[in-house]
Amino acid sequence: MGARNQGLLFWEERLRSASDQLIVTTDDGSYGRKALVTEPLKELLESGEKIDRVIAIGPSIMMKYCALTTQPFGVKTIVSLNPIMVDGTGMCGCCRVSVNDVTRFACVDGPEFDGHQVDWDLLFARQRIYLYEEKRSLEQCQSEMEVAKIHGKT
Ligand code: FES
Repeated sequence: MGARNQGLLFWEERLRSASDQLIVTTDDGSYGRKALVTEPLKELLESGEKIDRVIAIGPSIMMKYCALTTQPFGVKTIVSLNPIMVDGTGMCGCCRVSVNDVTRFACVDGPEFDGHQVDWDLLFARQRIYLYEEKRSLEQCQSEMEVAKIHGKT
């Protein structure tokens, strides 16, 4: 498991209790090994230890690089995609992803897919579709919180 820093890690003990071995990494070295999760993953793959399957869950960029790390070793890699979802019923098409050149809806066909077959560039592009609106919404929320603070409502 890994995170940017120690404060972002969670469920370490739960994962440890369910694991033969748990390797913890942080990008900044504030806890565990200072590394991206792909570094110990690659070392395990190179060690010759038999690895049947890799399951990567977390930020899309991390899952992409886990899949790229395992691909040369031919180890099946399952990722849990997190596209924008609206209805979650397979009707709106918002969560559309491309897997092995086939359009799939993450909400009903996934969210687990073969990481070696995912069109990551399409996923990243679709995740950024509402960045402008998300930024404006955040700014508006922060502004309203400032006003509430001034009026002693927080
Ligand atoms: S969220 Fe609408 S089709 Fe998946």
